[in-house]
Amino acid sequence: MKIIVWVACLLSSAAAYPLVQSRQTEDHAWRAPTATDRRAPCPMLNTLANHGYLPRDGSDISMDVLVAGLKAGVNLGADATKLVGAAALKGSTTGNASTFHLTDLNKHGLIEHDGSLSRADTSSSDNHSFNATIWAQTASHFTESTIGLGTAAKARKDRLTAAKAENPTFNMTDGDVQASLIETALYLNVMSNETGVTAVTAWVQKLFQQERLPIEEGWKRPKGEISVATILGLKVLMSSRQVRTSNI
Ligand code: HEM
Ligand SMILES: *[C@@H]1O[C@H](CO)[C@@H](O)[C@H](O)[C@H]1NC(C)=O
Ligand SMILES: *[C@@H]1O[C@H](CO)[C@@H](O)[C@H](O)[C@H]1NC(C)=O
Ligand SMILES: *[C@@H]1O[C@H](CO)[C@@H](O)[C@H](O)[C@H]1NC(C)=O
Ligand SMILES: *[C@@H]1O[C@H](CO)[C@@H](O)[C@H](O)[C@H]1NC(C)=O
Ligand SMILES: *[C@@H]1O[C@H](CO)[C@@H](O)[C@H](O)[C@H]1NC(C)=O
Repeated sequence: MKIIVWVACLLSSAAAYPLVQSRQTEDHAWRAPTATDRRAPCPMLNTLANHGYLPRDGSDISMDVLVAGLKAGVNLGADATKLVGAAALKGSTTGNASTFHLTDLNKHGLIEHDGSLSRADTSSSDNHSFNATIWAQTASHFTESTIGLGTAAKARKDRLTAAKAENPTFNMTDGDVQASLIETALYLNVMSNETGVTAVTAWVQKLFQQERLPIEEGWKRPKGEISVATILGLKVLMSSRQVRTSNI
């Protein structure tokens, strides 16, 4: 009896193993987008699409698919995803109000704003793709192996100041500034080495520059679910470091 159970287990695990293996190496392997795959101004959503946690073609994404992708990929809670996801759906061009394309997020004023850390302002010809010149301004603050709240807040503030100086049509509402702080809180938290506050510089670089999860560099999916409260808490800490519209 025992032997039969043991043999059955062995057989079933041998059968299951290639499946698990292929899920890990195939389904969530990083692959660059093709020319027809749609991408967003958000480095994280693009990363998740490049790993197949969101549809690789970046198209026809429902709230359920978005929530599941953010949860499986980086352990962002459904409450947090739904907050931003609701705004994303408002820009839907899919013909189905319950889905959106990643490119729908390029629409200025929905979530997309001026003064991004790695994208040019809306008045420039490409206002949504990664821009190495702009990222270099931001990354010039990241001189150490980790990025703390103070450094991240300063990088955020200096980029706003630079964008305002360079762009005569620069326009950020106070809500945009708050959203931009939330984006900084998100990358600090997701790319932190289990501290939840201090990010690993090399991981943040991969997220922005390659839109890739830095798994081979040692990053692991956060163990605890990331909540709205955590992110807003980080935002408040950064705001207290004077990153406000009045300071731009
Ligand atoms: C843990 C999850 C997430 C992380 C770590 C993250 C990270 C970021 C970061 C760092 C930026 C700023 C890019 C820059 O300034 O150059 C950004 C921008 C953006 N994110 Fe996300 N994001 C997350 C989830 C989401 C979700 C769920 C949505 C919507 C469905 C979203 C939509 C956007 C959009 C539209 C922008 C563009 C804002 C701009 O104009 O710069 N993000 N995100
Ligand atoms: C619209 O998208 C939702 C979510 O994926 C889906 O349940 C629904 O069937 C779609 N409606 C149509 C008319 O295709
Ligand atoms: C990057 O942004 C800068 C500043 O807005 C702009 O001059 C440059 O053309 C952009 N580069 C690309 C490749 O879009
Ligand atoms: C933003 O970029 C898109 C696509 O590159 C372009 O069609 C649009 O005109 C730009 N927005 C503005 C306000 O210039
Ligand atoms: C800036 O944008 C906001 C909303 O997007 C708009 O209400 C306001 O009029 C704009 N300000 C200028 C100076 O264009
Ligand atoms: C993350 O933290 C662990 C334990 O503190 C340490 O061993 C590891 O080197 C750190 N990884 C990085 C990339 O900083």
